[in-house]
Amino acid sequence: MAADAKETTLDGGPKHVAIIMDGNGRWAQKRGRPRLFGHQAGAQRVRDIVEACPGQGVKYLTIFAFSTENWKRTQTEVSGLMALFRRYIVREARALLSKGVRVRFIGDRIRLDEKLVAMMDELELLTSHNDLVHLTVALNYGGRDEVTRAAKRLAYEIEQGRLTHKDVDAETLSRFLDTHVLPDPDLVIRTSGEARISNFLLWQSAYAEYEFVDTLWPDFTPAEFARVCASYASRDRRFGAVKT
Ligand code: FPP
Repeated sequence: MAADAKETTLDGGPKHVAIIMDGNGRWAQKRGRPRLFGHQAGAQRVRDIVEACPGQGVKYLTIFAFSTENWKRTQTEVSGLMALFRRYIVREARALLSKGVRVRFIGDRIRLDEKLVAMMDELELLTSHNDLVHLTVALNYGGRDEVTRAAKRLAYEIEQGRLTHKDVDAETLSRFLDTHVLPDPDLVIRTSGEARISNFLLWQSAYAEYEFVDTLWPDFTPAEFARVCASYASRDRRFGAVKT
């Protein structure tokens, strides 16, 4: 995939795909290896799927890398994941830049290590002129947490007199969400056979289509990604209206 690669669009395919990358732990367990081995394999899959986006006409890809609930995992797994995110940024920065990928991070940065946050800021800045694929990585992200933080900022604006309660509507609240520059996801995919949304993009996915696949994330190939995008293209989205 080159930065100037032609965007071939799957007719009626999703423009924004969000993925809950589940099953790394089970993938590793099946091989008698530690959970972090599964996360490493999962990180490699991220690259394949990002590269597959232009071919599917997917302009926005949002991935759930670490949730506000994932801190409850063992200290070994949490610090291993944080180290993996740092390594991913160091190793992938050049390729992401040259392949036209613009990277953004969503989630609350307050609990993240300062060094990791500095690296995230740097990668966002470095890739800020890219436009082929917009990759958003959700890190220390939770849908309820995001809406709560947005409501708090909105309340502050009212307290300061810059807005009044009459300005509060869905459009205004959206402007305070981490995702304010992104379109809503068209399709949310969850791997590993679990059929729940686990606090991912709760507000933004109000009208998204969902696809739950049995494949464990490290086994999720670009071919399966293409199949899921094609299946989305055949669906009939009505957004609550009646077909005319
Ligand atoms: C869920 O699988 C996966 C995670 C909590 C971490 C996701 C992280 C990656 C795919 C790797 C790195 C990502 C980037 C952006 C570098 P699980 O551990 O809950 O699996 P299980 O349900 O089988 O235990």
